Amino acid sequence: MKRLLYNPTQILTIDTSGRNVKRGIEFSNVNVLHDHSVLTENNLIADIIPNSSVKKTVFDTSLDLTGKILLPGLIECHTHSAFMGSRADEFRQKLAGVDYEKIAESGGGINSTVKAVRRSTFEEIVEVVTPRIDNFIAQGITTLEIKSGYGLDFENEIKLLQVINYLNENCAIEIIPTFLGAHTFPTEHITSHDEYINEIINKMLPHIAKQKLALFCDGFCESTAFSSDQIDFIFTKAKELSLKLKLHTEQFNSIGGLDVALNHNAVSVDHLEVLIEEDILKLANSDTVSVLLPGVSFFLNYQYAPARKLIDNTAIVALATDYNPGSSNISNLSLIMSLAALKMKMTIEETINAVTINAAKALSVEESVGSIEIGKQADFSIFDTEEYSDIVYNIGKNLNCITIKNGEIVYSLNNIK
Ligand code: NIG
Ligand code: FE
Repeated sequence: MKRLLYNPTQILTIDTSGRNVKRGIEFSNVNVLHDHSVLTENNLIADIIPNSSVKKTVFDTSLDLTGKILLPGLIECHTHSAFMGSRADEFRQKLAGVDYEKIAESGGGINSTVKAVRRSTFEEIVEVVTPRIDNFIAQGITTLEIKSGYGLDFENEIKLLQVINYLNENCAIEIIPTFLGAHTFPTEHITSHDEYINEIINKMLPHIAKQKLALFCDGFCESTAFSSDQIDFIFTKAKELSLKLKLHTEQFNSIGGLDVALNHNAVSVDHLEVLIEEDILKLANSDTVSVLLPGVSFFLNYQYAPARKLIDNTAIVALATDYNPGSSNISNLSLIMSLAALKMKMTIEETINAVTINAAKALSVEESVGSIEIGKQADFSIFDTEEYSDIVYNIGKNLNCITIKNGEIVYSLNNIK
């Protein structure tokens, strides 16, 4: 089927001339087209044509986007959406001045969510996570990453990955599963770290690779979690099994995680709130994406990652919510864009590139999604405004009115088919 997306006021193509990433000077340009329409054929972008040629164009159906703007489907590249229970009690403690690491050290934090996940069945988790995915779809998100990391034993990590894979097959967008067994040490292994690492390496990773349950292996390199040597050990095995790599690193302490990730050619390094000056240059000279999570700094009332320095030195920067119950109970991607602009001094254009093509690169899907270029998947978000600055300017407001995945309308505020 051929569908014409007719006459949006602006098309933000995020054109990369086939490079499928934006860095340096290109990162400040969202490549706006006026007086154009987009033609999709089945699941792909077939053409981008001036409105003056619409009359001689053949199509089966058309969607009038007059007064609206057309963007690539947004990409959410870092979430922990598959969690159970609530940590509102910890939020209260945080408001009273107790810090995130202290809460983790005293048995709360990630391990308290682990308890809730272990108590829950596959079906119960599916029921709780499904509306969270619907909420992302309603924001114009067409590719979403979800990590495990709240099971922390064989049975429960596999259960979470099975939930994430089931949701991918049964929801309207693409969900990318990431294995985060190395999130923290589970309570039963607090004094037997090597035993848990052996379980990851000898049991979890081989099973996950064999059953193709995850595309990425992630970890948390931090003094309250895994050391850089432990991450190195896990990454070596994960790579051997053809999993791609990501790492939570330089969040509270710089303990060697960045170097390990770069040595292993990780696809992304995420957080970077305490990134030091000389490491900025290492990222500038690599193709590893810096995934910045300003929602965490906001939620924890903590310092922000040095976005400006990374961008000005030509590192590849992406943005994500890090949606999770402990450090960023925020699932609103446009709020993250506004925080990035206000708190990390990113321009509006940079925040848009950071949740489209560069977020696609952080998930290794940049060749098929993330920009409106001929031959890519027909994934779009359509915003009910005539000026793209409004996305970032309307703080916390969802302006997306239509989400299109693979050429199909999967969400529409007014039930357009
Ligand atoms: O990305 N840093 C480690 N992991 C998560 C937090 C998870 C949690 O607190 O439940 C993060 O911030
Ligand atoms: Fe995270």
